[in-house]
Amino acid sequence: MGVVYKARDTHLDRFAALKVLPPERVADPERRRRFVQEAKAASALNHPNIVVIHDIASDRGIDYIAMEYIDGKPLDQLIPRNGMRLNEALRIAIPVADALAKAHAAGITHRDLKPSNIMVDREGRAKLLDFGLAKLTGQRGTGADDSTLTDDGKDTGKGTILGTVACRRSKPKARRSTRVPISSRSERCSTRW
Ligand SMILES: Nc1ncnc2c1ncn2[C@@H]1O[C@H](COP(=O)(O)OP(=O)(O)OP(=O)(O)O)[C@@H](O)[C@H]1O
Ligand SMILES: [Mg+2]
Repeated sequence: MGVVYKARDTHLDRFAALKVLPPERVADPERRRRFVQEAKAASALNHPNIVVIHDIASDRGIDYIAMEYIDGKPLDQLIPRNGMRLNEALRIAIPVADALAKAHAAGITHRDLKPSNIMVDREGRAKLLDFGLAKLTGQRGTGADDSTLTDDGKDTGKGTILGTVACRRSKPKARRSTRVPISSRSERCSTRW
């Protein structure tokens, strides 16, 4: 949905990542709403395996989310053609599952879980990114942070398909049952790695 730049924070003398809403999408109120929701969802979660959001702002008509710069590679670039060794996969999957559990406890379903939305930093730490399709159910349980999250119910209109096409292939039987309510189980449907 956005373009991500590596930037330098000249005040704090550190790198940052800036996710910019492309100009052709600024005029689309739905895209803008999702962009704000992405920043809100990720910034409501304080977890070592979730990217830290610094701010959402606009400069000369360009909307951007400023976040920590993760010095590493997206997981899709790290998975060898013949697959990852089990211990290596678990070393990444377990903290990501913990991050998702934290999100679910706060009433947030990521819904776009895929290797390119997980960065692995130089220390081998996994960080979950891209809450651009996150669904905020408002069911806050233990693990929620102080931010107030509300779902305005506009996310999944009847028949709306969201997410990554490659992750949407499903067996014919599964395809027929499309009226599954959004819940933490939705993450399983969006994961193919
Ligand atoms: N905080 C960050 N630090 C370093 N790199 C990042 C960061 N955020 C995003 N990236 C890089 O930019 C890529 C795209 O980011 P992101 O998934 O947020 O954007 P997107 O436009 O929603 O992409 P897609 O539609 O492919 O999911 C990531 O796969 C990663 O390589
Ligand atoms: Mg992404």
